[in-house]
Amino acid sequence: MDFFSKDKKTALSAKHQAQLIAFGPVIFQVAKVTRDTGILTVIEESGSIGITLEEIAKKVKLSNYGVRVLLESSLGMELITVNNGKYVLARTGYFILHDPLTRVNMDFIQDVNYKGLFHLEESIRNEKPEGLKELGNWPTVYEGLSQLPPHIQKSWFAFDHFFSDIAFPKVLPLVYKEGIKNILDIGGNTGKWAIASVRFKDDVHVTIVDLPGQANMAKKRIEELGLTDRVSFYPVNLLDEKQKLPKGADAIWMSQFLDCFSEAEIVSILKRCAEAIDDNGYVLILEAFWDTQRFETAAFCLQQTSIYFTALANGNSQMYDSRVFIKCIHDAGFKIIEQVDNIGLSHTLLKCKKA
Ligand SMILES: C[S@@+](CC[C@H](N)C(=O)[O-])C[C@H]1O[C@@H](n2cnc3c(N)ncnc32)[C@H](O)[C@@H]1O
Repeated sequence: MDFFSKDKKTALSAKHQAQLIAFGPVIFQVAKVTRDTGILTVIEESGSIGITLEEIAKKVKLSNYGVRVLLESSLGMELITVNNGKYVLARTGYFILHDPLTRVNMDFIQDVNYKGLFHLEESIRNEKPEGLKELGNWPTVYEGLSQLPPHIQKSWFAFDHFFSDIAFPKVLPLVYKEGIKNILDIGGNTGKWAIASVRFKDDVHVTIVDLPGQANMAKKRIEELGLTDRVSFYPVNLLDEKQKLPKGADAIWMSQFLDCFSEAEIVSILKRCAEAIDDNGYVLILEAFWDTQRFETAAFCLQQTSIYFTALANGNSQMYDSRVFIKCIHDAGFKIIEQVDNIGLSHTLLKCKKA
């Protein structure tokens, strides 16, 4: 996708796109309600014959009025079509119902972001995640992760894991082909990478580095799986520049981690990585960059996800343009020895060594 090419939209389609934006919150909520009340499912089940408003209302146990306004809005956003008074599912409606990417994005936007996004302008002006107060009283969302209400936590983890779960199996052989045995997993979260790693190779030891709340959650999981001899823990807040990383690992792994930080913070963390490994050590970074995407939809999702970081997560990070991110790597004294794009849905692996 070339975002810098000339605008080819006609005035008519540009005006329509502008209305989609103006009514964005309306169509978002309607799509979600038609999904969650079963209206879209009932329409899908009626196949190509379709179903009347009254029949839908009866099946989903809602008033004719309620179903009518939802259906009319859904027609406008092309979730459904209507023929002789009978409603039929359109392709976009199918994706709202069945596409896993759409579902994790929609639930993440509703449960984690929707209310907080109201504070976007304040967040930009104050360079703080002013929307986070809608979820709780923490300086960043990461300090609150382990305490979020269950349904919000579920949507957060579903969103986070959706992308890494698809990428991890593909990236494991690329990481461990170098003979790495002792690896630090910074931002190890619930332990997914650590578990996948020790299952992938018998002689690998992983140290999960994360905030105390997260490290504790991961520890419980590792204990349940009986993997305590293969996985260690190093609870730390890396926003505190005085906090160092443990020395002696062959490699440092950071997946979807550095996007949680500003450029200056990324450089500071990478400099501490440089202190922790010797000159042959690897820093392995898995990130999704909007400018390296093959598909316009993937780039769009990443560009919009940045706003979660601004208004909710920490107020100063984002899903990066690779050129901005790679400059941080160079500024911290590393060189990129290999770059593998298009891993899983949207990831890039950067293998780095000290310059
Ligand atoms: C987006 S998650 C990535 C999880 C996992 N690596 C993956 O690829 O799915 C970011 C992780 O970084 C951790 N984190 C955020 N800020 C941190 C900080 N200041 N110090 C240590 N860990 C932090 C969070 O707790 C979270 O587990």
